[in-house]
Amino acid sequence: MTNSEVKATLSFSDGSTPLELPIYKGTVGPDVIDIRKLYGATGMFTYDPGFMSTASCNSAITYIDGDKGELLYRGYPIEQLAAKGDFLESCYLLLNGELPNQAQKDEFVYTVSRHTMVHEQMQFFFRGFRRDAHPMSVLVGTVGALASFYHDSLDINDPRHREVSAIRLIAKMPTLVAMAYKYSIGQPFVYPKNELSFSANFMHMMFSTPCEEYKVNDVLVRALDRILILHADHEQNASTSTVRLAGSSGANPFACIAAGIACLWGPAHGGANEAALSMLEEIGSVDNIPEFIRQVKDKNSGVKLMGFGHRVYKNYDPRAKLMRETCYEVLAELGLENDPLFKLAMALEKIALEDEYFVTRKLYPNVDFYSGIVQRALGIPTALFTGIFAMARTIGWVAQWKEMISDPEQKIGRPRQLFIGEKTRTVKPIEQR
Ligand code: CMC
Repeated sequence: MTNSEVKATLSFSDGSTPLELPIYKGTVGPDVIDIRKLYGATGMFTYDPGFMSTASCNSAITYIDGDKGELLYRGYPIEQLAAKGDFLESCYLLLNGELPNQAQKDEFVYTVSRHTMVHEQMQFFFRGFRRDAHPMSVLVGTVGALASFYHDSLDINDPRHREVSAIRLIAKMPTLVAMAYKYSIGQPFVYPKNELSFSANFMHMMFSTPCEEYKVNDVLVRALDRILILHADHEQNASTSTVRLAGSSGANPFACIAAGIACLWGPAHGGANEAALSMLEEIGSVDNIPEFIRQVKDKNSGVKLMGFGHRVYKNYDPRAKLMRETCYEVLAELGLENDPLFKLAMALEKIALEDEYFVTRKLYPNVDFYSGIVQRALGIPTALFTGIFAMARTIGWVAQWKEMISDPEQKIGRPRQLFIGEKTRTVKPIEQR
């Protein structure tokens, strides 16, 4: 970040002394006004619920231009990464800042694949859950529990420990997600197979049984890999900010990622793909779309068109475009082009894209509108969709956490507030209240 020659001046209508504030420039994107001295100089805070105009950190990992519909990981457009590489290449890039050469990639793939097994005792944690527990609650618990197995990598001030924890998290997430699924359907856990690719191994752990091997289908594995690439990182979104905030206190990385998973679970964030599919199932048929759209427009109904809208992308979500392509590929591979749910989704998409309510509010389909349909076609149950998102986003969370820990400006996160409660008052004896 560099200092801008331009300065901001904050003036007050009551004649108080104006305050000059520095402005910093990034490599691309909006400049920022540094308000760190504001409270000391004026006794005032800024007010920005939902962080609509606040940069909470500086970061060199992911850049989004919401107006252009652009998403870059370390400067590389998501479209190129999705077309030319696999998920582990994107992981290496997000973690290390550069794409790997062949030798670096081979070593990274080898290292990740050698950390895929979880401690055998982890299965006892699973057995403590009800079979119908939501997989996200299982993941919040089991990922947090990983910290109790890896005391050898919890010193966050040791770069080597941070590295090992990062690899463990990336490698073990698919194993835990697949275990959550297997537990829910009462099938035996399936151990990872190191010779398979990251995504093929996940499909193997999900769909093999001791009686029958999963036969790798390249189209389906590539679709899963693309879902993972597209969800790998997304700048300072709610769950990433949660991970950073949790990590700012010095908490260990497993605890921080568990906090990120908890945040991702919400329907306005990672829970949207599950909510989008449930919405389609609820609408049921193309004939019911007009009534549903009427409810969405009625502010008192509380009904939203799930999988539409985004805080940052206001023209289109570049991930949605790629996911839409994958959606067609997968449905063609599986002969599901006439699947009623897919037809319903396409009819809903068409109506919403033409409807004045959605057009004026710039509400376009986001990645989750299509990723739910793809995951359903892959055989992944709806309740696990957000778990797949968590598996993908773990690399983003880990990369952002590592970046934060090594930032010399890093401080514990501590927002302030505008207090609107009671002023000081006296506690009366109970009989006088
Ligand atoms: N359906 C109907 N109306 C909507 C929707 C929607 N999905 N999203 C926004 N609006 C309306 C909203 O009611 C408001 O209308 P008005 O101006 O008349 O009051 C206007 O559009 C602006 O919305 P907002 O709530 O100020 O926008 P936001 O930036 O705070 O919210 C969002 C963004 C993603 C939370 C929201 O669009 C939403 O809830 N979408 C559905 C959930 C979803 O698909 N989330 C996944 C996001 S992509 C995955 C990820 O990156 O996590």
